[in-house]
Amino acid sequence: MKERILIVDDEEDLTLGYSKCLSKVGYEVKTAGSGEEALELLREEIFDLVFLDIRLPKMDGLQVLKKALEIDPDLIVVMMTAHGSVQSAVESMQIGAHHYLMKGFDHEELRVVAKKSLQYNKLKREVYQLKLQDRRRYPDTAIFGSSAKIKKVKDLIKVVAKTPKTSVLIQGESGTGKELVAWAVHNWSSRRENSMIPINCSAIPEALMESELFGFEKGAFTDAKAMKKGVFEMAHGGTIFLDEISSMNPALQPKLLRAIETQSFRRIGGISDIKVDVRIIAATNRNLLDCVKEGTFREDLYYRLKVMEINLPPLKERIEDIIPMAKLFIDLNNKEFSKEIKGISDEAQQMLVSYNWPGNVRELKNVIERASILCLGEIIEAEHLAVELEDAPRRDVPPEQKTEVSPAEEESENAVSLQDIEKIHIIKTLNSVNGNKSKAARMLEISRSTLREKLKQYGIA
Ligand SMILES: Nc1ncnc2c1ncn2[C@@H]1O[C@H](COP(=O)(O)OP(=O)(O)OP(=O)(O)O)[C@@H](O)[C@H]1O
Ligand SMILES: [Mg+2]
Repeated sequence: MKERILIVDDEEDLTLGYSKCLSKVGYEVKTAGSGEEALELLREEIFDLVFLDIRLPKMDGLQVLKKALEIDPDLIVVMMTAHGSVQSAVESMQIGAHHYLMKGFDHEELRVVAKKSLQYNKLKREVYQLKLQDRRRYPDTAIFGSSAKIKKVKDLIKVVAKTPKTSVLIQGESGTGKELVAWAVHNWSSRRENSMIPINCSAIPEALMESELFGFEKGAFTDAKAMKKGVFEMAHGGTIFLDEISSMNPALQPKLLRAIETQSFRRIGGISDIKVDVRIIAATNRNLLDCVKEGTFREDLYYRLKVMEINLPPLKERIEDIIPMAKLFIDLNNKEFSKEIKGISDEAQQMLVSYNWPGNVRELKNVIERASILCLGEIIEAEHLAVELEDAPRRDVPPEQKTEVSPAEEESENAVSLQDIEKIHIIKTLNSVNGNKSKAARMLEISRSTLREKLKQYGIA
């Protein structure tokens, strides 16, 4: 996507020259002949950079600057000033302009300043994005597995990635990799230079969801002390990931549909529509069609979202992936915990493939992590695969023969002993401080001698 620049100057031959100079190097440029016209454009469209003349008829450049920053506090504005108006240049910087250019500048200077300012803008956005993703980041989006089913998924992701405007619906049981796939679609598409902003529809209170999506104007309600942007605005050029979409409030669904269809939205309390370019990826572990039938999800929105559909198969339907994936997770754990585990015993492999994996890949990953920590030798044995796998219902038991278990019973079935947890926690802590026992004891808030006793008790070297 081209970066968008707005040039505001009342001298038409000048704006024309600047515009040509910047378009030539690949920017999308718009011009405005007055402050009023500029503000109107800024309300309706998103620009990455504005060149603003300080001397304008009627509303002068400084006033326009103030108003523009009210519309978008993050806007990058470069003032264009005439010789002898250094004072107003300084004033503009105090108001919040990014930079200024003395009139009489040549085209080379204009390009350099545009490039530098846009780089700054991009950095600012990246920082925002990093903060957002801090909780959970995928350094890369490697999707493991070579079963026919997962291969089909990977091929589909590649196809979907190439159509960057199409909405995508990802469905699958919990832990099958829906979020991972969403990142892959984004990262493998032309939108990767811009952000993907995840938003979990079930984690955000209904009352806040609308402002989360669309933002609000200053004064839109009593608490709205300043303008706030929503994800539709922040994700401009990129992707919005709507996780657990089935939880979206029915009252909000038509507004979301409209925003997707028109690629425009209005901040709460706003008076004009803002155009954006975003792709929507939605995910759910429920069957969304069932929600439509139940009447909790709008049919029109459902069809709008599922233009491209990716269905993730549960792990028990791709048994051939289990052992290779387990081995890949072992390699990753070896690096993380500085271990040298080389393989999995036959008995342990048998346990892994006959288990039915209700928590899918996430559960496999956790089981392998725990085993890697518990395993002090080179081979993961049956005993390292927590008890849950030993007594768990096997895949070969037809579901109707299983007796109903209450959640409490189910929990006790999955239970790990307190000692196991303590042991794992101690090993993890030790690993995190490279085996420094004093540090580990401090972190665990126990004395060094207690730590020594526990290491002996658990046979930790
Ligand atoms: N094919 C895969 N290759 C590698 N890792 C995977 C794969 N599938 C899932 N994972 C890992 O399993 C974990 C769970 O995946 P993810 O969070 O994407 O699942 P989800 O479908 O969104 O689950 P939920 O419905 O509970 O939100 C993550 O750590 C993810 O990296
Ligand atoms: Mg998820």
